[in-house]
Amino acid sequence: MIDFEEAFPAEVARYICTERLGRAVLAKKELPSTNTLCTQLAEIGVPEGLVVVADTQTSGMGRNGRSWFSPSGKNLYFSMLLRPDCKPGVVPQLAIVSALSLHDVVCRLSPGKTIGVKWPNDLLCNGAKLSGILCTMSCTGANVDYAVVGIGVNVNMQADEFPSDVNATSLSLLCGKELSRAHVLAEFLTVFEAYYMEWQQSHTLAWFIPRWNECSCLEGQYVEVEQGRELVSGVVEGITDEGHLRLRDASGKIALAYAGDAHIRKR
Ligand code: BTN
Repeated sequence: MIDFEEAFPAEVARYICTERLGRAVLAKKELPSTNTLCTQLAEIGVPEGLVVVADTQTSGMGRNGRSWFSPSGKNLYFSMLLRPDCKPGVVPQLAIVSALSLHDVVCRLSPGKTIGVKWPNDLLCNGAKLSGILCTMSCTGANVDYAVVGIGVNVNMQADEFPSDVNATSLSLLCGKELSRAHVLAEFLTVFEAYYMEWQQSHTLAWFIPRWNECSCLEGQYVEVEQGRELVSGVVEGITDEGHLRLRDASGKIALAYAGDAHIRKR
């Protein structure tokens, strides 16, 4: 039997239609975290486009210090190595570009289902989380050396396999059938490469905003965002070209949320 480490990259290669991204795929049966290995490889000069995948992660990392549940044989856990020619401040936009790329793929794979994007970069179906994105970077002075975009997608999890305290769903629950993880990855990389090239033209989200607004599940909702020690709240009115959440407060003023988790609240 051919093992995951050989079979997975070969299957991605069968489906992928990119020029650079994912032309090198390093697949490992088990890793602490794909982001950690991808970062180590970035540090020794591996070129843009490498994708690191694991069948299971023993210390999968989520946003804000949380962990990412990463059982074997079920889901996609991968990290992309990017070397964008941009200033550090715009790199977090790549998480939004990634979320929109994944949104395109998931909508195609599960026709008839309503998939929403939740700022900053989650994909949800009926409030249940389908994927998560963790973007890190390294800079020298004012220049970005590399960015690592790590993505976890719930692909073939069944409802009773999720931890009881998480509200999550999977692609197979949406489509009613098992999916090939390599196929989902290849589809994602193909869309993401095109979007990444578009983003590289301006290093803003201007081109993406109409798409984002169409599928944002926070639009018009009253939300609170914890930003460090500060709490920003208001009714969501889209995102800015820089990827910040626009919130209109009770006095009619717009406040911006830059990072953090957004919670929908009753007014
Ligand atoms: C989130 O908290 O929503 C972000 C989760 C990101 C998880 C992915 S799985 C692949 C990559 N490796 C990690 O350790 N984390 C990211």
